[in-house]
Amino acid sequence: MGEVIIKGVVDKVESNKNSDEFNFYEALKVKETELFRNCNNIVVGKGNLNADILFVGEAPGKNEDLQGIPFCGAAGKNLDKLLERVGLSLDDIYVANILKCRPPENRDPLPQEISEHTPWLLAQIRDMKPKVVCSLGNYATKFFLSLGDVGLMKKQPGITEVHGKVRDIEMEYEDSEGNVHKMDFKLIPLFHPAAIIYNRNKLTPLWLDDMEVVKKEIEA
Ligand code: URA
Repeated sequence: MGEVIIKGVVDKVESNKNSDEFNFYEALKVKETELFRNCNNIVVGKGNLNADILFVGEAPGKNEDLQGIPFCGAAGKNLDKLLERVGLSLDDIYVANILKCRPPENRDPLPQEISEHTPWLLAQIRDMKPKVVCSLGNYATKFFLSLGDVGLMKKQPGITEVHGKVRDIEMEYEDSEGNVHKMDFKLIPLFHPAAIIYNRNKLTPLWLDDMEVVKKEIEA
């Protein structure tokens, strides 16, 4: 019998869960969580850490969990295509997520999980100092509109209302030594590339227009 190739099945890479890289405070907090215990890989980010633009998605999906790379499945392919249409690539942005580990069955993130995983995201923002943060979809957008106060997320407007609108965000982040880091950036919410797959005709032109706003901010 010939070799059976199952379409769409991604090989698991060696897990990064025990990597020495992840022994700092914010990563150790993630390692205490149930999501970490049940995931295959920690998904930190990809792209250019010196870029002016940070994209923030929701959480790793199945492919991302198996590869340890964000946006490497269907949503990621769409993101690549969308970026190409506005003349950008992974060299111009960095991409990370609210959650560093995949929620079971891709369910929505729980408030406690967001609280446990976002110190790492905030540490990434502190180090990267992006000019613009593009929150992809509702969860990331509501997290930033709440200035990181997870209890306030439900009260925030949804992505349909705020996409493409520029907001000045000032956030504080306290590290493990009690040092307070002040961070400021422009927030520009964008529709999530996965949502665009299901509503291409309507959402693609809106996303492309919103990215022109992002490009103007970077050039300003
Ligand atoms: N969706 C996300 O929000 N993040 C990923 O990494 C992949 C899909």
